[in-house]
Amino acid sequence: MRFGHFDDERKEYVITDPRTPYPWINFLGCEEFYSIVTNTAGGYSFFKDARLRRITRYRYNNVPADDGGKYFYINEKGKIWSPGWKPVKRELDRYSCRHGMGYTVVTGEVDQLEAEVLYMVPLGFRGEVQRVKLTNRGGSKRAFSLFSFVEWCLWDALDDASNFQRNFSTGQVEVVGPTIYHKTEFRERRDHYAFYTVNEEIAGLDTDREAFLGLYNGFDAPDAVVECRARDSRAHGWSPVASHHLEIELEPGQEKQLVYVLGYVEVPPGKKFTGHQVINKGSAEAMMERFRTPADVGAAFDELAAFWNDLLSVYRLEHPEPELNRAVNTWNQYQCMVTFNFSRSASLFESGIGRGMGFRDSNQDLIGFVHQVPDRARERILDIAATQFEDGGAYHQYQPLTKKGNDAVGRNFNDDPLWLILSTDEYLRETGDWSILEEMVPFDNDVNNKASLFEHLKRSFYHVVHNLGPHGLPLIGRADWNDCLNLNCFSETPGESFQTTENREGGVAESVFIAGMFVLYGEAYAEICRRLGKADEARKAKGHIREMKEVIDAHGWDGRWFVRAYDHFGERVGSDERDEGKIFIESQGMCIMAGVGLEDGRARQALDSVKERLDCPFGIVLHNPAFTGYIVKYGEISSYPEGYKENAGIFCHNNPWIMIAETMLGNGDAAWDYFRKICPPYLEEISELHRTEPYVYAQMIAGKDAHKPGEAKNSWLTGTAAWNYYAITQFILGIRVHYDGLEINPVIPSAWEGYSVTRKFRGATYHIGVSNPSRVSSGVKAITLNGEPLEGRLVPVREAGSINEVRVVMG
Ligand code: BGC
Ligand code: NOJ
Repeated sequence: MRFGHFDDERKEYVITDPRTPYPWINFLGCEEFYSIVTNTAGGYSFFKDARLRRITRYRYNNVPADDGGKYFYINEKGKIWSPGWKPVKRELDRYSCRHGMGYTVVTGEVDQLEAEVLYMVPLGFRGEVQRVKLTNRGGSKRAFSLFSFVEWCLWDALDDASNFQRNFSTGQVEVVGPTIYHKTEFRERRDHYAFYTVNEEIAGLDTDREAFLGLYNGFDAPDAVVECRARDSRAHGWSPVASHHLEIELEPGQEKQLVYVLGYVEVPPGKKFTGHQVINKGSAEAMMERFRTPADVGAAFDELAAFWNDLLSVYRLEHPEPELNRAVNTWNQYQCMVTFNFSRSASLFESGIGRGMGFRDSNQDLIGFVHQVPDRARERILDIAATQFEDGGAYHQYQPLTKKGNDAVGRNFNDDPLWLILSTDEYLRETGDWSILEEMVPFDNDVNNKASLFEHLKRSFYHVVHNLGPHGLPLIGRADWNDCLNLNCFSETPGESFQTTENREGGVAESVFIAGMFVLYGEAYAEICRRLGKADEARKAKGHIREMKEVIDAHGWDGRWFVRAYDHFGERVGSDERDEGKIFIESQGMCIMAGVGLEDGRARQALDSVKERLDCPFGIVLHNPAFTGYIVKYGEISSYPEGYKENAGIFCHNNPWIMIAETMLGNGDAAWDYFRKICPPYLEEISELHRTEPYVYAQMIAGKDAHKPGEAKNSWLTGTAAWNYYAITQFILGIRVHYDGLEINPVIPSAWEGYSVTRKFRGATYHIGVSNPSRVSSGVKAITLNGEPLEGRLVPVREAGSINEVRVVMG
């Protein structure tokens, strides 16, 4: 069952039933100011950091779901409704929510009065702009009231939700005309405030929540709206809000547009006040000036559209299946931008207060986005590397506002350092900008202790070499990619963190997954060394890689698949010897991507085992059989009921590793089958089961052992976005970014006739037409570049500005 449809032309998902199976959201903003907006106008805004600079309030896990947002109310002679259906929930004659690239348009109509609200964060703007369009489609004159509403958050979202004894006495506002300034704590140490304004004369306003709502009312029936009279309240403590009351008249056919601005302002030190406790409003006034008229909003909207069209023009696919086109050309890339910006911090499943930017996550997110914003990717790589320790280890997270490593989740996740090689390598392939390796980058953010980025990569590589266990495999530390396989944490205490408790100091647990990773990204490191003319170091690195391969051969193969790990007692995890958790997906994917077992049949055998034991109609589960009870020596993985999250859920992040592995064996049908199973637009028809947005990936789909297989959770912020994009574009469609050009190697379902891709690469444009006359699934018979036959599969880097025709014939 569907709840809307894709509008490919406008790059929108159009929701036509407000009762989606879960709130379906969008992210506004791609620089500093961000908003989350749901399909019923719920959500909140923040500046850079969803925890430390939360601008408006949102109550997670609330009842009813998704209450609180940027609301508008219309009261026409006692008939009250909201354009987004919620919070009033009066049935609308017509409803739609169009989630687009960086904007959302919510439209409702009642009795031929239409209200359309555009929510957007303009480029280069520290605020959200809302354009409200009211149209009288009826035959008689209308007179009605329009109320706006936002609720301020007292900046630190965690404190805001817990420290009530203080917070109920700190709220402060200032009002000038229609502009409501939220200045809580500005009197003391803060240098920032927020404001909400409208470009029209108002009939009244409210800034105190209780006065506006009434203490015992919900958002659905505020006193001020029901009685059609703003209270002109001033917040002193309690809960500051901002609401404008406008009285509007519309002739038949008449349309009226209003512009609301929700802004965030930082004031330079020493310039906070212009009078006693009167805040400096200079920047706020300039921001309001920028959006005085609907035409100003229209111009910013066009600018945003042009920005996105440009970003999305770097890789454009034309394929017979619209689902695939919309995934590759629009939504997957859009989700990559969102994960790049937010890491795992703020969504409807990430509360914005728990987690900063992950070291592991941010490096991986970058591979889905580096082709669009190479400059920002460069900056990101340097930011991440600056949190690394001298010994190559890393904090697991860093805080976006300070860019400093954050010890809350500690360190010693021993896969972390290697992901820096992946991100840097992909950056080098995409841009050819080798100068990044010479950048001097701090260790642990200490500006007095720096080394080149190349040196950071080297430390990443040797962090593995210096941390090997009894079998010669890499020590796992707190965990590797699977944060819940906690082999050094034996926790018996409720509530204790599985990630930070490490009570098996000197533990010997080892990871075959990291071993595979070391081979894969170690090879990338060695290649970088070779290209830099560091032949000795390349040779040395190759030696370590060779040894690691031998160790995998000796201790990493279980007979029909790769072992996952060795536990604290030196016993195999992910082995036929076990009753539960016999086979895990991660080591199959990583070892085969690294090329282990390709020549001797082990790779094929491992992938056949994946198919037999891990595959199901909704994707590939993480391991099998699921753990049916808590196993103290394995940790969090066994804490989840069967089929959820790391306990045999479908972790959509690592499914593409198997897709890529299948392409390495030339098996396009299998790779495609795995891709299609989890690719969101292909799941639109089962929205009622899948539940999360049909336009973005979710982190996890309940696996075959779950109560409700196929039900997704944790949409948006997941490495799934980058990895699936990487798998489909570079390995299935086969346009692989190479240091010296584009390497063409499609591995597709044999039934495909062909497709074409326009790829911008280092300033040149390549129109690549792939045809498959013999219906093979891999193999390239001939390539021509601008009519000339090419030797091999590499299309060399062409002059910037050139337009090139590439014809690929498979066979
Ligand atoms: C989740 C993991 C996550 C970890 C670290 C666990 O509860 O299941 O997916 O990586 O927390 O934040
Ligand atoms: C989510 C985390 O963000 C990611 O870093 C981790 O690899 C997966 N969960 C698997 O545990």
